[in-house]
Amino acid sequence: MKKLQLKNKWVLITGASSGLGQEMARQLALNFKANLIIAARRADKLEQLKAELETSAGIQVKVIIADLSIPEEADRVIAESIAENNLYGAILNAGVTYFGRHTDLPWADFESILKTNVISVVRMTNSLVNYFDKPGTEGSVMLVSSMASYFPVPYQAAYSATKAFITAFGSALHYELKNPDFSITVFAPGGIATEMTDNTKFNDLKSWLMPVSQAAKEGLHAFVTRKYNYVPGWLNRVGSVMMNFLPKKFLTGRMSKVYLKSLVKAETE
Ligand SMILES: NC(=O)c1ccc[n+]([C@@H]2O[C@H](COP(=O)([O-])OP(=O)(O)OC[C@H]3O[C@@H](n4cnc5c(N)ncnc54)[C@H](OP(=O)(O)O)[C@@H]3O)[C@@H](O)[C@H]2O)c1
Repeated sequence: MKKLQLKNKWVLITGASSGLGQEMARQLALNFKANLIIAARRADKLEQLKAELETSAGIQVKVIIADLSIPEEADRVIAESIAENNLYGAILNAGVTYFGRHTDLPWADFESILKTNVISVVRMTNSLVNYFDKPGTEGSVMLVSSMASYFPVPYQAAYSATKAFITAFGSALHYELKNPDFSITVFAPGGIATEMTDNTKFNDLKSWLMPVSQAAKEGLHAFVTRKYNYVPGWLNRVGSVMMNFLPKKFLTGRMSKVYLKSLVKAETE
């Protein structure tokens, strides 16, 4: 399949106000000269990024302020992104986690995680497939999942389950596409140093975190070369293969101990 040619093309990226999304937006602008549609809730952060990238990379940036825990807002993000019929790619990156005992997670917060990480992603993907999966339309969609989708993560039970959905959904849908010029990629990073992990609960796990610039660079490599599933970092890739050879019960038990230790340490500090 032909690599994506991003120069002067429009790419939507959700969750661009911080972390991985913000860094992918920067690299898309500076290294690929793509025009960007950046979406998230924090208007100030998005406007700042727009000003920075229009000056430093000389590209065009459109801002969409949207709360993706509201599925109708997800519909609006796509409607505005495809309004001029020139969207070339989309990176559905916005996501939230909860690190703690699942029974302490209020139902409303669980629903919000589910809507942000799953419902809105599926609604946006449906509209994007409708837009791209027709003859003569070139482009790609990348779903940002997580290595936590490959094995259950105790104390991030809801989060890892939402990401398991995304990996299964994107990987299956990839094979339902009819247009040979359109592809779906699932990007599954391990831990990354971002706002999501900038929390005392993650203190014990910080040595595992990948710099966000590296995760973004590898994410864009996966996007441009239209990988099927991609895990950044060779150690993570080896780990994700090795995991298939270990009994799930053993692996989940080990993860449980490591995550609980970090959680308890933060609670008692
Ligand atoms: N950090 C990690 O260790 C790690 C590992 C594997 C996968 N990932 C995945 O990578 C993606 C990016 O995460 P990150 O690490 O970069 O975290 P982050 O720094 O917290 O960024 C999350 C982004 O998602 C946006 N977002 C969250 N809730 C939203 C909502 N309701 N509506 C619209 N936008 C929303 C945030 O923007 P606003 O707050 O401005 O709305 C922000 O731009 C997520 O899908 C995450 O699951 C992260």
